[in-house]
Amino acid sequence: MKVLAIESTCDETAAAVVENCGAGVKILNNVVASSVLMHQKYGGIVPEVAAREQIKSIIPVITEALGEDKDSIDGIAVSFGPGLMGSLLVGVESAKALAWAWKKPLYAVNHMGAHILANWIVESMTAKVPEFPAVGLVVSGGHTDIVLMTSVKDWKWIGGTRDDAVGEAFDKAARLLGLPYPGGPEISKAVERVTDAMKERYGKKYKLPRPLLNEDNLDMSFSGLKAAVAKTVIELGEIDEETRDMLAWEFSEAIIEILVKKTMMAVEKNKPKCVLMAGGVAANKQLRENLRIEVEKIDGVKFFCPELKYCGDNAAMVGAVAIIAPQEVKPTELKPDPSVTTV
Ligand SMILES: Nc1ncnc2c1ncn2[C@@H]1O[C@H](COP(=O)(O)OP(=O)(O)OP(=O)(O)O)[C@@H](O)[C@H]1O
Ligand SMILES: [Mg+2]
Repeated sequence: MKVLAIESTCDETAAAVVENCGAGVKILNNVVASSVLMHQKYGGIVPEVAAREQIKSIIPVITEALGEDKDSIDGIAVSFGPGLMGSLLVGVESAKALAWAWKKPLYAVNHMGAHILANWIVESMTAKVPEFPAVGLVVSGGHTDIVLMTSVKDWKWIGGTRDDAVGEAFDKAARLLGLPYPGGPEISKAVERVTDAMKERYGKKYKLPRPLLNEDNLDMSFSGLKAAVAKTVIELGEIDEETRDMLAWEFSEAIIEILVKKTMMAVEKNKPKCVLMAGGVAANKQLRENLRIEVEKIDGVKFFCPELKYCGDNAAMVGAVAIIAPQEVKPTELKPDPSVTTV
């Protein structure tokens, strides 16, 4: 089955053509246009600007993803939420119109489910896909959730943040440190600038808290960590580049320590066959590396994380859901749902 998938939940306008491949999903074409640069001067996403850019990009992006493939498409998939209402409307209405005009089935996809099912994207018929039960860690701009999956459609939320999402925390901390939006990749760049000599020179000078780290539950909290960065910046007054990079490094270390520890607690309690990470923050190389190392210490547990290009918002992951866990809907019945929680 070949699916045209559309993603427009936030500031990315994306379309992909995907098809089934062994036990997974192969990506034939994947196009992403982002309005992120337009939001930089505001230090965050402006919903009205994002929605207008979605309107401008949606037809060129779909046209590019389709190429000459239009006649072989068997169905249309679209993210219907969670996300920004104005942005969601553009993708959902486009998908409905195409499904109606081409008389093809329409598949409703939950954006968060799509992040996790990006782990089913493969390159060959024989590639291994995750097995169940699985523990999933979804880390993105709006979510920080630990879920227990017993099938591609059966999920249980078992833990997560009590306040800010981890991506949001990266973005806010970066802003406090004078780094541009989006903050996650900028903090990663700052971390790469930190040398061993700098770590030795500064020692524990900028130690930040690890909220809830030692509590025996899967709760996380990132707002206090962000507040600690704000407090340090205010106390220091002017900060030079080295101090800024050291603070970014310590912030990143704290976040990664919390995410890895809480995920491993979930693994300990639930004895899964796999751990799956997903979402924009899953692009963080240090987090990928540290979690992989911890998971692989446990016999029989495999670690999965999508390729970098499938971590942030994209339509390939939306197509993956339509193939792996399809949920067909009538075009007349599909509406965007900005705050949908169930997957
Ligand atoms: N290398 C990185 N390290 C840490 N965070 C990162 C990195 N790259 C991207 N991010 C963060 O990922 C987030 C964007 O992820 P994503 O696109 O999945 O979020 P979203 O779609 O806005 O939110 P959601 O999926 O919850 O609706 C941003 O907060 C960004 O700073
Ligand atoms: Mg997302």
